[in-house]
Amino acid sequence: METFQAQYDRYRAAVEEALQSLFLRNKPYNRLQEAMRYSLLAGGKRVRPVMTLAFCEALGGEARRALSLGVALECVHTYSLIHDDLPCMDDDDLRRGRPTCHKVYGETMAVLAGDALQAEAFRLISLSPLSAEQRIEAVKTLASSCGGDGMVAGQVLDVDGLAHDEASLRDLCLRKTGGLLAAAADLGCIAAGASPEVRRQAREYAKHLGLAFQVRDDMLDVIADQDEFGKPIGSDREEGKRTFLDLLGLEGCGKLVAEETRLAREAISGLAGSEFLLELADSLADRRK
Ligand code: IPE
Ligand code: IPE
Ligand code: MG
Ligand code: MG
Ligand code: MG
Repeated sequence: METFQAQYDRYRAAVEEALQSLFLRNKPYNRLQEAMRYSLLAGGKRVRPVMTLAFCEALGGEARRALSLGVALECVHTYSLIHDDLPCMDDDDLRRGRPTCHKVYGETMAVLAGDALQAEAFRLISLSPLSAEQRIEAVKTLASSCGGDGMVAGQVLDVDGLAHDEASLRDLCLRKTGGLLAAAADLGCIAAGASPEVRRQAREYAKHLGLAFQVRDDMLDVIADQDEFGKPIGSDREEGKRTFLDLLGLEGCGKLVAEETRLAREAISGLAGSEFLLELADSLADRRK
C-alpha cells in the first residue's frame, strides 16, 4: 500500500511538473514572467493543490482531472504571499527560504507579478479538462474564497489590527487562511463530481484545518528554526500583529490546533477513502515549516 509520504510526493510531483511548464514564453516583458516563476517555483509545501488532488482521488476521480484547479489555486496562494510580504503589508525579506519577490525584482514588479498570477489562475481553470458547469463552479469557488469577503477581507482585518477577542481572531483566520483551504478541498470535490453534502463535509474539514494551520503558523513565527521555516522568525511581533499567541499563549495555541484538527478529522469521518486526508490533518498539526 502507498504510504502517506509517497502519496503526498506523488501529488506534489504532479503539481511541480505542471507549475514548471507555466509562464515560459519569450516576451519583451520577460521580467514579469521571471518574477512570477521566481516565487511560484521556490518550493512551497503545495498543501493546497495536494489537498485538491487528494479529495478528487478519494472521491473516485482521477487526480489529473483536478490538476489545473490545484495549480490555479497555488497561483492565487503565491500571489497572496508576494503581496503579503510587501513593505506596505508585513514587510518581510524572506519567503520559502529565499529573498522575497520585491527584494529581488522591486516592489512594482512584485505587485504586478501578484496581479498576473491571480488572473492566470482563472485562465487555467477556464482551460481545464472539465465540463463547462464544473469550470464555472470552480471559478465561483476560487473567486469567493480569495476575494473581498475571503482572503483579501482577512488581510484587511489583519492589517487594520481590529481583531482582539477570540471570535474576531477566528473570523480573521478563517477568511485569511481557511478560505483558500476550503477552496482546495472543494475544487477536488468539484473535479470528482461530488454531491453538495460531500462538498459541505470537505469544506468543513478544510475550514477547521485552516484555523489550525494559521494558529500553527503563528506559533512557528516564534518557535520555528528560520532555515527550516524559510520565513523570518518574530515577524508578527515586529509588525505589531495581534495573533492567537497573545490571547492564548503557546500552550493554549497548541490545544486549539489539536482541537481544530480533531474537528477536521470528524468532519470527514463518514467519507470512504479518507485515510490520506486524515493523516494530512495530523501532519499539519505538528509541522515545523
Ligand atoms: C503560508 O502558507 C501562509 C499562511 C496561510 C500561513 P504555507 O505555509 O502553505 O506556505 P508555502 O506555500 O508552504 O510556502
Ligand atoms: C497569511 O498570514 C497570509 C496570507 C493570506 C497570504 P501571514 O502573514 O501570517 O503569512 P506568512 O507568515 O507571512 O506566511
Ligand atoms: Mg500577513
Ligand atoms: Mg506575512
Ligand atoms: Mg505568519
